[in-house]
Amino acid sequence: VNLRLHGDTIAAPGALDFAINLWPAPTPPWLGDALEAGLAARHHYPDEAPAKAAIAARHRRRPDEVLLLNGACEAFWLLAHALAPRRAACVHPGFTEPEAALRAAGTDIVPVMLDPDRWELDPADVPEDVDLVIVGNPNNPTGTLLPAERLRALARPGRLLVVDESFIDFAPAAEPADGGDVIVRSLTKIHTLAGIRAGYLLADPDLVARLDGHRQPWSVNALACHALAAAAGAPPSEILQIAAEVAEARTALHTQLATLPGVRVWPSAANFLLLKLDEPGGVIDGLADRGIAVRPCDSFPGLDGSYIRVAVRPGPDNARLVGALHEVLA
Ligand SMILES: Cc1ncc(COP(=O)(O)O)c(C=O)c1O
Repeated sequence: VNLRLHGDTIAAPGALDFAINLWPAPTPPWLGDALEAGLAARHHYPDEAPAKAAIAARHRRRPDEVLLLNGACEAFWLLAHALAPRRAACVHPGFTEPEAALRAAGTDIVPVMLDPDRWELDPADVPEDVDLVIVGNPNNPTGTLLPAERLRALARPGRLLVVDESFIDFAPAAEPADGGDVIVRSLTKIHTLAGIRAGYLLADPDLVARLDGHRQPWSVNALACHALAAAAGAPPSEILQIAAEVAEARTALHTQLATLPGVRVWPSAANFLLLKLDEPGGVIDGLADRGIAVRPCDSFPGLDGSYIRVAVRPGPDNARLVGALHEVLA
């Protein structure tokens, strides 16, 4: 399978894009101001210090426990290349960049499969001898949250437990990732900022310094630095508001999809839903003919052509998707 396939390259020009996991939120004034300030600072090298301080304050950590990232993805490439783990567990179906990065670094990969009925992770499936485990919480493409006690059960002395929380802002009730050695965060999903490349990780100062030693200088640009600083200080109520809007649209979409014949849909804590079709033949093409793009899931290890992932979008868009699926499945 192609581990480097992502949802951003699927929609034809002009199609209604359910393939990419981006909620089309308007940019709030504080974020627009931050991006403008970043642009105004373009004559200087980026200054990471204000963002590190703001992120540290938000998470009640020290600034030397924060590493800014050129998008959450940079975490996986830094971890893989700085640490060159011997053997790593990658949870599947899951986001494929961690495995791509680890493979590139020569790490031996142990796939750990979620149970395909409820997409739960059994910590006993992770071999004792892996020195790195990466899990998504919520997980993409299943939308599942990992209960805190299962997460803790993955931790071991001498093993690095990496928790990718790129979608966590959509799940405000999620339990904190106690036991995670590295927590990865992103502005991409919650603030619809995929093109800016803004993320960060939290880890102990020694590990942050080690990963930092493998970064090129100024890899996080001035727009990203300003956006990261502003987002860390933004009113939590705004994040909760976006999460609530997404949750409302997701519940409605889930209910409508569940009534379609031959469609199984799983509950999700994020801004997308995973579907399994009894008769997948022609569905993706039929939707494309109707101007709608969805994410085929056969590039996720553990899934085949009967699975598709759809983003949660505002209500009228979702109604178009459901209507088109109705026609295509009939
Ligand atoms: C689980 C997960 N983590 C990370 C990313 C990438 O985030 P970023 O844009 O911050 O690199 C994605 C993008 O699809 C994702 O699905």
